[in-house]
Amino acid sequence: MSQYHIKNLEEYFQVYRKSVAQPEIFWEEIAEEHFQWKRKWDKVLSWDFSKPEVSWFQGAQLNITENCIDRHLTHRGDKTAILFEPNDPKEPAEHITYRQLHKRVCQFANVLKEMGVGKGDRVCIYLPMIPELAISVLACARIGAIHSVVFAGFSATALATRINDCDCKMVITADGSFRGPKTIDLKGIVDEALTSCEGVENVLVAQRIHSKISMKEGRDHWLQPLLDNAYKDCVPEAMDAEDPLFILYTSGSTGKPKGMVHTTAGYMVYTAFTFKNVFQYQEDDVYWCTADIGWITGHSYIVYGPLANGATTVMFEGVPTYPDWGRFWEIVQKHKINQFYTAPTAIRALAKENLSYVEKYDLSSLKVLGTVGEPINEEAWHWYNDNIGKKNSPIVDTWWQTETGGILISPIPYATPTIPTFATLPMPGIQPCLMDENGKEISQNPASGRLCIKFPWPSMARTIWGDHGRYRDTYFSAFKNKYFTGDGSLRDQTGYYRITGRVDDVIIVSGHNLGTAPIEDAINEHPAVAESAIVGFPHDIKGNALYGYVILKEVGETRDNDNLRKEINQLITERIGPIAKLDKIQFTPGLPKTRSGKIMRRILRKIAHQDTDNLGDTSTLLNPEVVEAIMKEAL
Ligand code: PRX
Repeated sequence: MSQYHIKNLEEYFQVYRKSVAQPEIFWEEIAEEHFQWKRKWDKVLSWDFSKPEVSWFQGAQLNITENCIDRHLTHRGDKTAILFEPNDPKEPAEHITYRQLHKRVCQFANVLKEMGVGKGDRVCIYLPMIPELAISVLACARIGAIHSVVFAGFSATALATRINDCDCKMVITADGSFRGPKTIDLKGIVDEALTSCEGVENVLVAQRIHSKISMKEGRDHWLQPLLDNAYKDCVPEAMDAEDPLFILYTSGSTGKPKGMVHTTAGYMVYTAFTFKNVFQYQEDDVYWCTADIGWITGHSYIVYGPLANGATTVMFEGVPTYPDWGRFWEIVQKHKINQFYTAPTAIRALAKENLSYVEKYDLSSLKVLGTVGEPINEEAWHWYNDNIGKKNSPIVDTWWQTETGGILISPIPYATPTIPTFATLPMPGIQPCLMDENGKEISQNPASGRLCIKFPWPSMARTIWGDHGRYRDTYFSAFKNKYFTGDGSLRDQTGYYRITGRVDDVIIVSGHNLGTAPIEDAINEHPAVAESAIVGFPHDIKGNALYGYVILKEVGETRDNDNLRKEINQLITERIGPIAKLDKIQFTPGLPKTRSGKIMRRILRKIAHQDTDNLGDTSTLLNPEVVEAIMKEAL
């Protein structure tokens, strides 16, 4: 039996027991057997959650791109590493072999170096899902620069905040992007963002849509001519195990986005290990994760995890609706996809359409189906299982977070029996627990509580860029000596976990994490708005949608509410991006507040959920009359 590749339930329990009893030996053996090191570690793990400080494979040196590319060249040089499927189905797919990937990453790395980018510098990547995105990520890692990928759906303001927060000296972007039948002016967004980013010295521009854009002399450079002239080899930088590999921003319940910092060795070992087991990847399989590399799912399970295993990983530029609702299934048939990994929101949207879009295609290549990002409801689970997997492909409901770097709770397909809506059992090395309101661990089953992790795992984020105090306060202060996930969870009689959703003010809309505070800040910028509060409410496709309660400065008879609503959503689009737009906006005379001035979101949530029979304890409310008024006009 190989503990790197678990094949049945008995092996899972055996490996899991070892990973808990002897975590250091367990991870050391995996690191030793399956990766290339320039120097071995002195110590496998040191940790102290009270600081918090966690370090894996201290003293080791490596380069993650050597593990993801170079070491495959002897046996897999001609194997497809990245299979690029363009937005337009008429444009041919591109098969980039490991050998070609090596050359393109090295050339890109040399361009970065020539532009003065070096080890430890931050590079912002704002690109659509084209090969240059994966290649630029790997090129940064090759030379030890820290990549900060910003999802190319974020607005100029959101992009500027992220560029400035970690002082990026370079931005990599494209002239524009294709999104179904539309094009998006990415370079225009970058230009606008850069009016408030003084630290950016150079902008590299990939040509994708061939639109007319403006290029600022001395700052902006077309990428292709630089690549054409760059040398084809680049010695990988020796990185310390704990050197930062990347920063990725995620929304918090308050304040500005958190730049989660992931480091090199532990992240590599854990994402590779979980990729192998959760997807049961076999040598000639073609694996497709539909996420964008702008999110953690893309970092860990499009780029690093698959490539570390020498896999063929698909990058899809387009959307599930273009040219029609059959696009995903057309791609599954065309590339004979074996593992398909997507989000519940996509499944719900696809399930609403006519089944003929599915039935037209041969999906018999599928062996494993995955979901991630939010709880999957039972109906969507069955639709996926019946119509896509034909009851033959196990569904892996994978629970994890930007902060966790890799999948923490998930079935192992063909090993763990699945139950709809349950993420089931922890991965080896993961020690979850449920905590009650008094901060005590609940040991019996069944139970429900707040989900924490008791012991460090290799791919956990090490800090928030520039704000270690916030890292400690957010994740390590609610429960002593435990990492608090922010999620609630049930655990059934057999020990299976079912994630029930956030217990803080983060709302997950279509699988995207949205903090309420930045959206409220954007709304409050409107000159007519005095105050606002956002809550989530259930939505058929998106899982949750946003409901905004807005107090206006002046209540006038003549105001045009519909226009105001449009303006508010326009502001949100400009400040954050279209993903944060509100589905419902109710203008109210006031918000329910406690005597200490805190908004009672619980009540607003109940009204938005149309569940007002029992509002719970309202005795601490300063202004109970407001609740009646809000209920009367609820949307
Ligand atoms: O609430 C959980 C939910 O998504 C949150 C993490 O979001 P993000 O950092 O954007 O990462 C998403 C991709 C890993 C979690 O705190 N979540 C993620 N996966 C699941 C889930 N909720 C239920 N079931 C899941 N499988």
